[in-house]
Amino acid sequence: MSAQREDVTELAGLEAPKLGPTGRPLRDFPVPKKLRSHGPARIIALCNQKGGVGKTTTSINLGATLAEYGRKVLAIDFDPQGALSAGLGVQTHDVTTIYDLLLGAQRDVTAAILPTGVENLDIIPANIDLSAAEVHLVNEVAREQILARVLRQVTDRYDVILIDCQPSLGLLTVNALTAAHGVVIPLECEYFALRGVALLVETIEKIRDRLNPAITLDGILATMYDSRTLHSREVLQRVVEAFGDQVLETVIARTVKFPDASVAAAPVTTFAPEHTSAENYRQLARELVFRGAVA
Ligand SMILES: Nc1ncnc2c1ncn2[C@@H]1O[C@H](COP(=O)(O)OP(=O)(O)OP(=O)(O)O)[C@@H](O)[C@H]1O
Ligand SMILES: [Mg+2]
Repeated sequence: MSAQREDVTELAGLEAPKLGPTGRPLRDFPVPKKLRSHGPARIIALCNQKGGVGKTTTSINLGATLAEYGRKVLAIDFDPQGALSAGLGVQTHDVTTIYDLLLGAQRDVTAAILPTGVENLDIIPANIDLSAAEVHLVNEVAREQILARVLRQVTDRYDVILIDCQPSLGLLTVNALTAAHGVVIPLECEYFALRGVALLVETIEKIRDRLNPAITLDGILATMYDSRTLHSREVLQRVVEAFGDQVLETVIARTVKFPDASVAAAPVTTFAPEHTSAENYRQLARELVFRGAVA
């Protein structure tokens, strides 16, 4: 009887669809169409006040994969640690940085833009100077809108601008959220992943209320996912229960290729182009284009 039923479902092509790690049917997002012209850029902040969740890794590798798909990408290092700059092989001494633009010491934004080793991917670097910015900006008029004003000069040249935020909800992050059209929240698939996300979502809502009515949550990205551990699977399940379709279908696996690529100061797409880690970020790029978060 059951064998017979199997035969029937097989014949009708009705076998249960394969589920992805977020519990939704696995699907392939289409390769984005080539763009005929570029800009104006959509600005996306990679934000989570929790440290070490994959903000910088995502800025680097999403930037690189969108660039592979022909998008013109500008990555903004908005963390005084300068990890984005280092991860893309850009040295940050004696160069114009985002700090100089924020403080108005350099008014021409293009003077701070540097190419990276990846075609179509540029960066505005940061270094430890940026740690003084919050103190200096606190007495400025419209202190939350300074980054937005800086970026306005170059939005026409890019399709997407990614802002790699520091792990805090201070004035720099408020500037990033005020400048952004969308936010992507990377979440590490670890026990305390959801702690603090409510506060972050509340902060985004306040920014929407008071400073940037158009800001949207583009998605929550599960990172450092280890499909072999029950723990990782449970955390991801809880994240999906809490945030539903706001959780991106793409999940970034935990692999040593990411720290290895950081040491090599290159995106995984350059360091290990065929590895699943590179494919994870290509899928993220395709999903964000598919969802309309990127042109
Ligand atoms: N999918 C992954 N698998 C394994 N290691 C990863 C993965 N993603 C990031 N890492 C590593 O985890 C560490 C933290 O990642 P990353 O710097 O991207 O986080 P972050 O959120 O930017 O941290 P911070 O809050 O300090 O800026 C780095 O050493 C990075 O190489
Ligand atoms: Mg970082």
